[in-house]
Amino acid sequence: MQQRLLKTTFDVYTSLDEVLSEEKRLMEKAKEAMQSAHSPYSDFMVGCAVELANGDIVLGSNQENAAYGSTICAERSALMTVGSMNRHSDVRKIAVMGTGRTFETSSPVTPCGACRQVIKEFEDLGGAPITFLMSGAKGDIYRMVGIDSLLPFGFGPKDLNLS
Ligand code: THU
Repeated sequence: MQQRLLKTTFDVYTSLDEVLSEEKRLMEKAKEAMQSAHSPYSDFMVGCAVELANGDIVLGSNQENAAYGSTICAERSALMTVGSMNRHSDVRKIAVMGTGRTFETSSPVTPCGACRQVIKEFEDLGGAPITFLMSGAKGDIYRMVGIDSLLPFGFGPKDLNLS
């Protein structure tokens, strides 16, 4: 038997002003996307901005449903648009921002497990690590590179010999 250690490195910014200007712009787009959140059930708004290899930015927000389980998160909402544009391989950066309507989230909003799995698909198809920027309404901002940091030991298309 042997034990192995898994390590993740990520950057922590204490304010948006510390973030590199082009990435700050992407985060502002995620904030803009929050405005289209349909979240009457949770009162939690999430916006996502996906940057593609040619600089195009695709937005998404959480879209809730009276049948709660039919809700889709902001990240998958944006990524399904990217997929519908047939640009699965082009995803390079993903910014996520979220907050409650009745309270200000002070820790970064990070993708749920289902979204991490979907992101894994896009990253494997693109063959390049995706950069993540994650934030609440205030407080620290996290920056990570590569889905493996968020989803270690993830299962993807490569495991099916498809890419
Ligand atoms: N939500 C997202 O859209 N993205 C996340 O990263 C976390 C959670 C949404 C789903 C639901 O509409 C609401 O936030 C509360 O869970």
